[in-house]
Amino acid sequence: MEIKVIRHHFPSMESTNSWAKEHILSFDRDALTIVSTDKQTNGRGRLGRKWLSSPGNLCVSFCFFWKGHNILNIPQLMALNIVELLEGYAIKGAIKWPNDVLVDQKKIAGILCEVVSCGEDKGIILGVGLNVNLTKKELAAIDQPCCSLHSLGVEATHLEVLKHLSDLFIPSLETFRKEEQLFFLERYRSKIVHQPGDFLKGELYEGIDDQGFLLLKRGDHSVIRVASVIED
Ligand code: BTN
Repeated sequence: MEIKVIRHHFPSMESTNSWAKEHILSFDRDALTIVSTDKQTNGRGRLGRKWLSSPGNLCVSFCFFWKGHNILNIPQLMALNIVELLEGYAIKGAIKWPNDVLVDQKKIAGILCEVVSCGEDKGIILGVGLNVNLTKKELAAIDQPCCSLHSLGVEATHLEVLKHLSDLFIPSLETFRKEEQLFFLERYRSKIVHQPGDFLKGELYEGIDDQGFLLLKRGDHSVIRVASVIED
């Protein structure tokens, strides 16, 4: 059975994640609620950073309720869906820990997954920002190497991209809910840019475990597990 989908689209708003966080207690517990906008005025990135959200770029939050297992795998599933979306435009994407999507080492999309306690369930707010129409000039003003569909020669609207991404994410979320993580993890791992032995966060990258934790080997050979999702 397909999950019920409820959509809220706004011409402009501060942040789809912030709006979803404010309203999540009123969302239908059995539905997937998709909050999107043409433009954010206060887009948020990971680690308190700002996210540039000028008109015509994809800004969306996929919101749903979860029983609490394997939460780290959820943004990983989305990162993989974004790579698949890019493949549909004949673009080869790769994933940089935790869930940045890169093309030729330049960031095209980021994910901000926020988790809110909602009684027995966790409320998941899976925010996605994808650069659709940023020009080379706008990209050059960002403090890290970035690209957009437009800069890669693809002319698409953010609403078309939203439809494609939703068409990929909705069935894969439902499969994940039923079968848990294993069906997509191998493919996710194959898209990761890091290789065992690379330095990451000052330690040696070892891999990603089945629960979605990053494995890092320290100087004393102990292995630590690092999570990517912060819960309120
Ligand atoms: C990152 O790479 O730092 C994550 C960026 C996430 C940006 C998206 S845009 C839609 C949603 N609403 C927000 O305020 N942020 C996320």
